Amino acid sequence: MAEEKKVGFVTMGEAEEIKEVPVIGVGMLGYAFMGKAHTNAYKKIPYIVWPPPAIPKLVAIAGRTKDRVAAAAQRFGFEKYYTDWKEMIADDEVQLFDNVGPNNMHSEPCIAAAEAGKHIICEKPLARNAEEAKRMLEAANKAGVKNMCAFNYRFVPAVRLIKNLIDEGALGEIFHFRAKYLQEWITDPNFPLIWRLQKDVSGSGALGDLGAHVIDLARFLVGEPKSVSGLLKTFITERPLSDDPSKKGKVEVDDAFESIFEFENGAVGTIEASRFAPGRKNANVLEINGSKGSVAFNLERMNELEIYMVDDKPEIVGFHRVSVTEAYHPFWENWWPQGHIIGWEHTFVHEMSHLLDAIVNDKEVAPYGATFEDGYKCAVICDAIVESSKMGKRVEIKY
Ligand SMILES: NC(=O)c1ccc[n+]([C@@H]2O[C@H](COP(=O)([O-])OP(=O)(O)OC[C@H]3O[C@@H](n4cnc5c(N)ncnc54)[C@H](O)[C@@H]3O)[C@@H](O)[C@H]2O)c1
Repeated sequence: MAEEKKVGFVTMGEAEEIKEVPVIGVGMLGYAFMGKAHTNAYKKIPYIVWPPPAIPKLVAIAGRTKDRVAAAAQRFGFEKYYTDWKEMIADDEVQLFDNVGPNNMHSEPCIAAAEAGKHIICEKPLARNAEEAKRMLEAANKAGVKNMCAFNYRFVPAVRLIKNLIDEGALGEIFHFRAKYLQEWITDPNFPLIWRLQKDVSGSGALGDLGAHVIDLARFLVGEPKSVSGLLKTFITERPLSDDPSKKGKVEVDDAFESIFEFENGAVGTIEASRFAPGRKNANVLEINGSKGSVAFNLERMNELEIYMVDDKPEIVGFHRVSVTEAYHPFWENWWPQGHIIGWEHTFVHEMSHLLDAIVNDKEVAPYGATFEDGYKCAVICDAIVESSKMGKRVEIKY
């Protein structure tokens, strides 16, 4: 695995001249949190990834309010803006549609983009439920466009290292996948009823927001689940309205969930997520135990991986911490000398670069990138967790 790669202190900043790089026109719906993260990646790709698979051209951005979307276009460097996403999709210069809108804005625009022959990247969760996600998958497949569901944690170097270790058998037979994704930001009962807490907009709460990420990692790293059981919980059932804090609205999504997984390959697992975990800022934490060893990862220390190998010399056997920052580690050929760590935002550089490569070189987005099919399968599992919680019994996974 540790093949020679020319990076680190050796070739930092060196670049061979390249002749022609294709240009891909990007049209983006939404311009807030993820809009900023995706734009940041598009801007970095042309000089961080060398040679870049393509140069993303920031063609247009769409939103609802003219002044705000115009300001976003100026700030992020998009050439045009639209107040109607349909017009942006009809723009011939837009080749890649990037959907960073809220979850209720994923399905219709993505289906329209597919029908217009645009390649698509859509943020997770792919849709509010499996039925909606299936229609998106079918539209993308029918149109034959490249499609990606933006599960960016597949593109963390330490997570990709786990994937490589499992695929080459270094951890042996996998017994356990144990994961939790914890945040703290809605613990205050006076936190307003923003879109992430409104079922008609978001579909679900911690489940689709945080759980979807970890469920995707479970499928990516361990394989398909056979059955799940789940328990959803809403701790605060009413919250102040965003536009009129003197009034309250009902919270109809889960604040947290717990779930138990049985995988087709015989492994078992637990997955939980909560936005009610004071002190846990963005703790996407997982541990995998196999017959030959274990790995443990925490996004809050994303450049590190804890590894235990049963065959280590008895005198030194124990969990040890690997700095996943060497030239030969996944994605590191483009970055810095070892130990000069990268951050959350750089996962999007890896992700978009993978998608651009698939588009211009007609490669598959799968299995390393998540496709709409992965987004759909994740939605089926999320729905099964909801159903299990309602019925009080285990539910089989059927795609
Ligand atoms: N991959 C990740 O780590 C990650 C992190 C956060 C959010 N997300 C996902 O990204 C998506 C966007 O989340 P966010 O945090 O950027 O949300 P946000 O609220 O910060 O931004 C949403 C954007 O969509 C725009 N918008 C809302 N309704 C619209 C409409 N009807 N028409 C046009 N534009 C509209 C808003 O103006 C805003 O610019 C969600 O699906 C979310 O689950 C992914």
